[in-house]
Amino acid sequence: MSARPEPVETPRKVNLTEKLGLFAEHWSPKIVGELNGQHVKLAKLQGEFVWHHHDQEDELFLVLHGQLRMELRSGDIVIDPGEFLIVPRGVEHRPVCDQEVHVLLFEPASTLNTGNVRSERTQDQLDRI
Ligand code: NI
Repeated sequence: MSARPEPVETPRKVNLTEKLGLFAEHWSPKIVGELNGQHVKLAKLQGEFVWHHHDQEDELFLVLHGQLRMELRSGDIVIDPGEFLIVPRGVEHRPVCDQEVHVLLFEPASTLNTGNVRSERTQDQLDRI
């Protein structure tokens, strides 16, 4: 028998519905996974965010529930459940939704939610749930 390296952590599956039931606040992403220096986050959105961009990070928005409108300087993109949008670094964007939207975000751990902008929406420390 060849020796196999011990896994650092025992893999555990994540149930998105269960995690989404653990918080209610809007615009406050929660970390639910981490790999390769990237975070998997869940967030509930409602209303308008702030225009911003990220100098270093591309951001993935996967819509789980509701309809998200991503405003871009080049025009709006509507994202429905089961669809995702990657916003490349440097591209200004503003998420907007009239009704509540649940999204999964996948982006480098260094990503600040409001990017190059500081506002009351800026979240420096994200909870892990
Ligand atoms: Ni962003």
